[in-house]
Amino acid sequence: MAREKTNAEPERAFSATLQGDDPQFDRTLRPRSFGDYIGQAKHKENLEVFVEASKRRGDPLDHLLLCGPPGLGKTTLAHILAAERGVQLHTTSGPVIEHKGALFSLLTTKLQANDILFIDEIHRLSPAVEESMYPAMDDLVIDVVTGDGPYANSIQIPLQPFTLIGATTRTGLLTAPLFSRFGHVLRLDFYDVKDLARIVSRSAGILGVGIDPKAAEAIAARSRGTPRVANRLLRRVRDFAEVLGSGHVDVAIVEKAANRLDIDAVGLDEMDRRYLQIIVEHYDGGPVGVETLAAALSEPRDTIEDVYEPYLLQQGYIGRTPRGRVVTKRGYELLGREAPSGDPQANLFK
Ligand code: ADE
Repeated sequence: MAREKTNAEPERAFSATLQGDDPQFDRTLRPRSFGDYIGQAKHKENLEVFVEASKRRGDPLDHLLLCGPPGLGKTTLAHILAAERGVQLHTTSGPVIEHKGALFSLLTTKLQANDILFIDEIHRLSPAVEESMYPAMDDLVIDVVTGDGPYANSIQIPLQPFTLIGATTRTGLLTAPLFSRFGHVLRLDFYDVKDLARIVSRSAGILGVGIDPKAAEAIAARSRGTPRVANRLLRRVRDFAEVLGSGHVDVAIVEKAANRLDIDAVGLDEMDRRYLQIIVEHYDGGPVGVETLAAALSEPRDTIEDVYEPYLLQQGYIGRTPRGRVVTKRGYELLGREAPSGDPQANLFK
């Protein structure tokens, strides 16, 4: 399933997809072991078991698919798994592996026994590259064709045992043959405010920023359930605290920074509100197709589906129907408007 590169970075202060004006920042704050990792408790406990079992047997970890919206820590988990398993992590991404040759060179020259190959945006592998992954995943071999026409010959080259960790924001775009080859599929959830507040406090400690517990909570509440957003907001709040305050982060400075950055009390920004307003004001609350929304917001469809919608859906501000998106009663309330009278769910089935 070849797709255009459309997951463009939107111009928003706290986009979860943004790798950061200082990529070092994300890396400094990234937990390096299960012990440092906060949240996703159920998944973490399962992964700890898988790592321990694979270490005892001396086998590679089973192939693993990590799914979820951007910024929830898919890459972080891959780094932790490699560190805890005591192997190297090799990272790449679907669109970067342009042809089979690039994949073969990765598999044959880079991987040592039990290493982990991390392919981000794995749903964007080209069909040819994806197909050549199958024998590598199943039987630890690659099929190389030599010669041409009547002289063509296929030889199998054995590989070191390895683990493929695929990451995707869209499980639905994965083909069935690829999906079925993963031994474990892990769907990351948005973090709750309590866990995010712990992440913010941990990050503030690493950055040497003094922060009140209530202020960590206030940042967490405005972070769309996403650690990357929380860490980025912490950094911006630190700027305001240093320039406009004493450098210490309290609730007042968080609120001031959030106001200045147009982030509301539940973490929605200008773009989220425009999304909701367009459906309510121009389409009577929906349903409206995602392509129409993409055109109205001047954003690529993929960005809308990967970045904006998951949190609005999870929080129940919008609903998704076969005929398009609708704003729910809760979404109307968020905008300070009254939902149309009648059955509050009526729009969902219009
Ligand atoms: N920084 C980003 N994500 C984190 C997590 N899950 N735990 C601790 N620190 C983090």
